[in-house]
Amino acid sequence: MGTVRPVAYLLGFGGYAPERVITNDDWAEWVDTSDEWITQRTGIKQRRFAADDESTMTLAADAAAVALKDADLTPDDIDEIVVATDTPEMMTPDTAALVQDRLGCRHVPTYDLGGSGCAGFVQAIDVAGSRIAVEPKRILVVGVELISRMISMKDRATAVLFGDGAGAVVMGPDEGRAEVLGVVSGTDGSAAEILTLAAGGTRNPFNEKSLLSGDYNRLVMDGRKVFTEAVRRMSEAAGDVLSKVGRSLNDVKLVIPHQANKRIIEAVRKKMGLSEEAVYVNVDRFGNTGSATVPYAMFEAVRDERINEGDLVVLTAFGAGFHWSAAAVQF
Ligand code: UT7
Repeated sequence: MGTVRPVAYLLGFGGYAPERVITNDDWAEWVDTSDEWITQRTGIKQRRFAADDESTMTLAADAAAVALKDADLTPDDIDEIVVATDTPEMMTPDTAALVQDRLGCRHVPTYDLGGSGCAGFVQAIDVAGSRIAVEPKRILVVGVELISRMISMKDRATAVLFGDGAGAVVMGPDEGRAEVLGVVSGTDGSAAEILTLAAGGTRNPFNEKSLLSGDYNRLVMDGRKVFTEAVRRMSEAAGDVLSKVGRSLNDVKLVIPHQANKRIIEAVRKKMGLSEEAVYVNVDRFGNTGSATVPYAMFEAVRDERINEGDLVVLTAFGAGFHWSAAAVQF
């Protein structure tokens, strides 16, 4: 395969989970569901919900502050900010601009990567890596979701699956804690209608009609189709990125898949022929936090020494769109 030029380096890792814990028993008091159903179908036992005085921007900034500290950098050292989120603070401007101000960074460029659902963070790593290749710079990359305020609390089929949270990394051109060896990304736009949150867009703008119909915050999902595609795309993307960087599954210490459902993660693990220890799982404790799942899981795995120097790690994610993205990371 020859020498593969790394995309960029990861210099620090951060995460933030709101304090408020929502158990399955809490949900059973609000809608017609049970701990047994949620556990059996999803493996989720609890999730976190943001407090009233928190917002997408504060979750993102709190995770980013941890990543900056971990990288031994200050807000002044950041040259660009990208926030992957499908639950932004506002339609406009971008959440990343608000994060820049909150952290006290210089007036560096910022942008959100929105609409990629749960694949957003790994896609953002892909985009940030290309930006660094063009011009050496340090980029703060955040995955954040405050889903509890964007879904219908009455829709048991979707509401019980999600939680709020944020994860972040600092990427740079210099030697760091880990090298992003390569990334692969793909999209199947023909599947767009299978998982949508149309609220606030031009198709379903916020107005009297949408408010009266109760249609303003409905996440529409064909769970079965999402399930099947998530398994296929996440395992294929993981294999593809390893081929791209000339490595094999035998070299991999840990796979960090998007955390949507324990059964999806198990199916990916079996399809790839991996042992239980080789796949990171925290969906039981946090539920599906969208684009925050992968960076938060990586932050935890590094903090808890599930990842150590010398380990090859694969991130693989799948979300609305459908979008998928996988990265090979050498610690
Ligand atoms: O990050 C991407 C975001 N989304 C996902 O990853 C979701 C992927 N899909 C899934 O995780 C699963 O498809 C679900 C967990 C959403 C559903 O599991 P399932 O095994 O596919 O169940 P199902 O949709 O076939 O529903 C089975 C039954 C239905 O009742 P009937 O029609 O069989 O009588 C639902 O009405 O379960 C019912 N149901 C519930 N029952 C209790 C749906 N939600 C609930 C609930 N509690 N919360």
